[in-house]
Amino acid sequence: MARGLTDQEALPAGFDPRNRDRDDLYGALTQLRSHGRIVHSPQLQAWCVTGYEDIAAILRNDADFSARDHKPRPLAQLPPDVEEMLSSWSGESASLGEMDPPEHTRVRTVINAGFTPRALRGAEADIRATAVELLQPLAGVAEFDLVAEFALPYALTVIMRFLGIPAEHHQACLRWSDHKVQLMVGRDHTPEQLREYATGLRDFGAFARQLTAQRLTQPREDLISAMLHESPHGHRLTAQEVASLIPTLIITGHTTLAQALAITVRHQLRSPGGWAALVDGTVAVADLVEEGLRLDCPVVGMYRTTVREVTVAGQLLPAGSRVLLLYGAGNHDPARYPEPDRCLPDRWPAAAHLAFGRGTHYCAGAALARAELRIALEELVGRFPRLSATPETAPAYRPTFPLRALRDLRVRP
Ligand code: HEM
Repeated sequence: MARGLTDQEALPAGFDPRNRDRDDLYGALTQLRSHGRIVHSPQLQAWCVTGYEDIAAILRNDADFSARDHKPRPLAQLPPDVEEMLSSWSGESASLGEMDPPEHTRVRTVINAGFTPRALRGAEADIRATAVELLQPLAGVAEFDLVAEFALPYALTVIMRFLGIPAEHHQACLRWSDHKVQLMVGRDHTPEQLREYATGLRDFGAFARQLTAQRLTQPREDLISAMLHESPHGHRLTAQEVASLIPTLIITGHTTLAQALAITVRHQLRSPGGWAALVDGTVAVADLVEEGLRLDCPVVGMYRTTVREVTVAGQLLPAGSRVLLLYGAGNHDPARYPEPDRCLPDRWPAAAHLAFGRGTHYCAGAALARAELRIALEELVGRFPRLSATPETAPAYRPTFPLRALRDLRVRP
């Protein structure tokens, strides 16, 4: 029988994924799971779902769960002018992540046409050239930050080349993307900082609209032009829709990728013999890509909202309930992955992990991301067989739950 909410099911007071628990997130998620498959969090204002099968079932069920309120909510009340800029910066169109079918299907079909296996095969040499170009100068330095000096510019350059955005705009897009992340999940910002971030977002929106207008009249061989001028399976997008997709693709296309790469490298460097096993081929790069994503995924969770009364893991949820699908917890579900906290690259091919989500909103860039991670790791291993990490002194992760973000990763080549 379905249960109602009781005090015992409230989240343990100690769970603090945004702050204290961020460096031991998986310890905290294991503790959370011990309280049940679904646990209410007053702090996160959501029901946290921890089991792989429950998460996968929700992601298959668009009829009962909507994505319309999928993003984390800002932690503090924003000043009214910041709220206003935040709701209008990208124009009138809803963002892809918050659309439900059939609206979502139309937009997604057009995006998918840009990431076909053929398009990705065609991009491989360019992706490798980007990695090489960024790594070459680092061979001569004593120490560098793998996040800022390699992972971020690499991931950004790849998605920008796909979109056809010239290099002179990359730094601004990097800055605006960080503003978006800060507004969404950052904390302790002053009203002035919030205004600066929101103004940056407004500029981001204007930049995307200007670029769209250019490609509308002067199409090129890039994803923006394709989204404007092609109509796969009869689906078309308006210029406004394309303009609002550009920041989404830039942000989602590089922040998560850079973090997945840095997190995986950090893990290998901190495991005894981990890097050497990659260098001598004992661990296959493609397997490590999957295991790295499973072990510590950049998107730890995403939200959905119940459309009608529904039962999840025995818990009755009224219509309008917010659920947080903890992909990170599902990826460590012992019922699905034996010894879930160990890095075991040879467990693949195993059941697909949830690092890219599942179902309707399954990551549009998953195949591109896999190729980017593989190529970056191959180039790192080939060039820096003795790579090592310097000792860490501060918390390794930024307080940006549910996004997982290393502050930096200082390494010696
Ligand atoms: C390792 C890197 C990446 C990870 C871990 C990741 C993770 C995710 C996850 C978990 C979702 C689903 C969110 C949800 O359930 O609501 C998602 C959606 C999405 N991702 Fe990725 N992503 C990565 C790389 C990329 C790249 C390179 C692109 C570039 C095109 C991209 C574009 C998107 C888009 C457009 C969506 C929205 C899909 C939709 O709502 O239909 N991602 N990603």
